[in-house]
Amino acid sequence: MDANFSVVILAAGQGVRMRSALPKVLHTIGGIPILEHIISTARQLNPKAIVVVHGYEGEQLKAAIPARPGLLWAKQEKQLGTGHAALQALPYVGDVEKVLILYGDVPLISIDTLHKLSADNAHNGLSFITLNTDNPSGYGRVVRRSGKVQSIVEEKDASREEKDITEVNMGFFLSPKERLCTWLANLSAKTAQGEYYLSDIVKCATSEHLPVTAISPESAFEVLGVNDKIQLAFLERCYQSEKARQLMTQGVTLRDPNRLDIRGEMTAGQDVTIDVNVILEGQVKLGNQVYIGPNVYIKNATIHDGVQIFANSVIDGATIQSGCKIGPFARVRPKTTLAVNAHLGNFVEVKNSDVGANSKINHLSYVGDTTLGENVNIGAGVITCNFDGLHKHRTVIGNHVFVGSDAQLIAPVTLGDGVTVGAGTTVTEDVPPNHLIHNRIQHRVVANWDQNKNESPEDSE
Ligand code: UD1
Ligand code: CA
Repeated sequence: MDANFSVVILAAGQGVRMRSALPKVLHTIGGIPILEHIISTARQLNPKAIVVVHGYEGEQLKAAIPARPGLLWAKQEKQLGTGHAALQALPYVGDVEKVLILYGDVPLISIDTLHKLSADNAHNGLSFITLNTDNPSGYGRVVRRSGKVQSIVEEKDASREEKDITEVNMGFFLSPKERLCTWLANLSAKTAQGEYYLSDIVKCATSEHLPVTAISPESAFEVLGVNDKIQLAFLERCYQSEKARQLMTQGVTLRDPNRLDIRGEMTAGQDVTIDVNVILEGQVKLGNQVYIGPNVYIKNATIHDGVQIFANSVIDGATIQSGCKIGPFARVRPKTTLAVNAHLGNFVEVKNSDVGANSKINHLSYVGDTTLGENVNIGAGVITCNFDGLHKHRTVIGNHVFVGSDAQLIAPVTLGDGVTVGAGTTVTEDVPPNHLIHNRIQHRVVANWDQNKNESPEDSE
C-alpha cells in the first residue's frame, strides 16, 4: 500500500460459540493464533500502526502475541458493537491519511486481496469487501441503487426484500481517517441489536457523496470468519490446502496434499518428497532430496540434503546432517544432532546426544545424554543408563567403537576409540582405547534337566 495508513483489528467480541475458556482469536489455524495470522498479514502492508481492539481478555492476548514496534492495544470496555469498537482504536492510529479495519476473527485474508482493496481506494472514498453468496443469512446485505452502493443493512434490521439480496458485507473497510473519525463519533445505536454498527459508515459516506466501492476477495475462504469449532476446522483445511498448493508449486512432491499438516513455518529444497499423514510443526527446514515417509511427525528440526525419514518416526528439536537414515519407528528428541550418514533404526530413542558421522544405532536402543564418535556401531538393545534416580550423567563413546547387543553403559562412562564391548556386558567404568570389555554372566549348561522335578540329576546326587 502506498498511502500513509494504519490498521485497526477488531477483536473484542466474546466468541461465545467457541465454547472455550481461550479467547476466540487465540485459537489456532496451522498452529498459529488467529490474531497472529491477521497481524502478520497486516505487517506486510507496512502500516504506521496496528491497533488491536480487545475486551476483557487483553492481558491474555498480550501474553500470547509477540510485541512489535507499532503494535498497539486499545480496550473496548463494553462490547457495544463493531462501530464502537473501531472508535476505541482511533486515538492510537496516529497521523495518517487512511485507516484499514480488519476483523479479528477472519484469519485468512490475503495480502493480494488487501492490495486489491488499496488499489480500488485510489478514489480516496470508502472501499470494502463483499461476496456474492447463495446463503447470505447472518451477513449485512449490500444495498445498491443503479448499481451503486448505497448502504449496508444488517440481517436483523433488514426488510424481507433486503434479506433476498445476495451480495453481503465481509468487512475490511479502507477509509479516509478524518471522515472515519466523524462518522464513528456520530453513529447511532438505534439499531435492531442496540449496537453501533461499523457497517453504517457506508451510509455516512454515500450521504456525503463520497465514492463507495466494493471489491471481491481473490478466494472466498479468505473472508470467512471463525465463530465456532466447525468454521475453525473448515478454515484449517482451507489453510492447509493453500500451504500444500504453495509447496507443490515450489516443486515439492506431496503424495496426498490433503494429508499433510503444517503447523508453523517450513522451507523445502529441491526434489523433496512427502508421503501421507505427515505433520510438520514449528520451524522445519528440509534440504534437497529429503524423503519423509508416511505418519512422520517433525517439530523444530533442520534436515539436510538426502536424508530419508521412514514411516512412523518422530523428530523433535534435532539437526540431521545429510545422508542420514531414520526409522521406521524412530524417536529423535530435543538437542540431538546426527552427523552425516548416521543411521537410526526401528525402536531407537535418542535424546540430547550427538551422533558422529557414519555411526549406526539400528535396533531397539535408548541413547541419552551421549556423545558418539564416528563409525560407531551400537548393537540391538543397547541402553545408556543416564539417570541414577537423582541426576543425569553423560556417556562418551569414541570413534570406531563397537557395542555388542544388550549392553548397558552406566553413565558417567567413557569408551575410548576402538573399544569393543561384548554382547550383554554391563559397563560401569571407563574403558581405555582399543580394549575389549565383556562381563556377561558365565554360560552354564546342565545336562538331563528334569522339568517336573525342577532339579538336575547332578544336583540330587
Ligand atoms: C459483521 C458486520 C456484517 C458482516 C459480518 C461479516 C457489523 C455491524 N456487521 O457482523 O455486516 O456481514 O461482520 O463477517 O459490523 N467486535 C468487537 N467489539 C464489538 C463487537 C464486535 O471488537 O463490540 C469484533 C468481533 O470480535 C469480531 C468483529 O468485530 O472480530 C465482527 O463482529 P461480529 O459480532 O462477529 O459481527 P457480525 O455480526 O459477524
Ligand atoms: Ca463475525
